[in-house]
Amino acid sequence: MQAHIAIAYHSGYGHTRALADAVAQGVARVPGATAALIDVVSLSDPDWKALGQADAIIFGSPTYMGAVSGPFKHFMDLTSATWLARGWSNKLAAGFTVSSSQAGDKFATLSQLSTFAAQHGMIWVSLDQLPGNNSSTASVDDLNRIGASIGVMAQANNDQGPDVAPPGSDRETAARLGVRVAELTLRFLRGADAARMMEASA
Ligand SMILES: Cc1cc2nc3c(=O)[nH]c(=O)nc-3n(C[C@H](O)[C@H](O)[C@H](O)COP(=O)(O)O)c2cc1C
Repeated sequence: MQAHIAIAYHSGYGHTRALADAVAQGVARVPGATAALIDVVSLSDPDWKALGQADAIIFGSPTYMGAVSGPFKHFMDLTSATWLARGWSNKLAAGFTVSSSQAGDKFATLSQLSTFAAQHGMIWVSLDQLPGNNSSTASVDDLNRIGASIGVMAQANNDQGPDVAPPGSDRETAARLGVRVAELTLRFLRGADAARMMEASA
C-alpha cells in the first residue's frame, strides 16, 4: 500500500520552500509513503491532478501581514470548484508556516490553513510534539522551539537566506510532521482497506 502525500506551498524568498523540503524528507523516511512538492504559484494540470489523487495534503505558507501570503490565498480561492465537488473530502491535512519574528502572528496563518482544510472536509493532523525552548536548560536547538501544537511554526531571521534559515531545529520539526502525516495516512488507508474487505466478506 502506498500513501501519496502532496506538499502544496508558496515561498517568496525560499524559507517556506526549505521547510517544504524538510517535510518531504520526513515523508520519505516512512516506508510506503511518497511526497510530491507542489508550488501553488505555478500550478499545472498534472499538479491539480496530483492534489486530487493525494491521500494527504500538507499546506505551507509564509506568514505575511499576520496571514497566509497573497499567492497562497489565491490558490485557496482557486480550489472553490474542488470544494463544491467535495474533491478533497476525507483526505488528511496539516500545515506549516515561517515568519521572521518569534511569534509574528503565525497562529493566525495556521488557523487559516486548518479552516481551509475543514472547508474541504479534510482531517487536520496536529503537530504532536512537546514544546521546546521553554525552560532555563532549554535552547533554540530544541525541536518545536516555538511551542506550537496546531502545526509547524518556524522562524527565519530576516537577514539570512534559506541556506541557513530557518535553523535545523525547525527543519527537523517540519520533517517530523512529514513522518507523522505519512504514518497516519498509511494507518488510515489500511483501516479503510480492512473495512472494505470486511464489508465484502459479510
Ligand atoms: C509582505 C510580507 C509580510 C510579512 N509579514 C510578516 C509578519 O506578519 N510577521 C512576521 O514575523 N514576519 C513577516 N514577514 C517576514 C516573513 O514571514 C519571513 O521573511 C519568511 O521567512 C518569508 O518566507 P518565504 O521566504 O518563504 O517567503 C513578512 C514578509 C513579507 C515579504
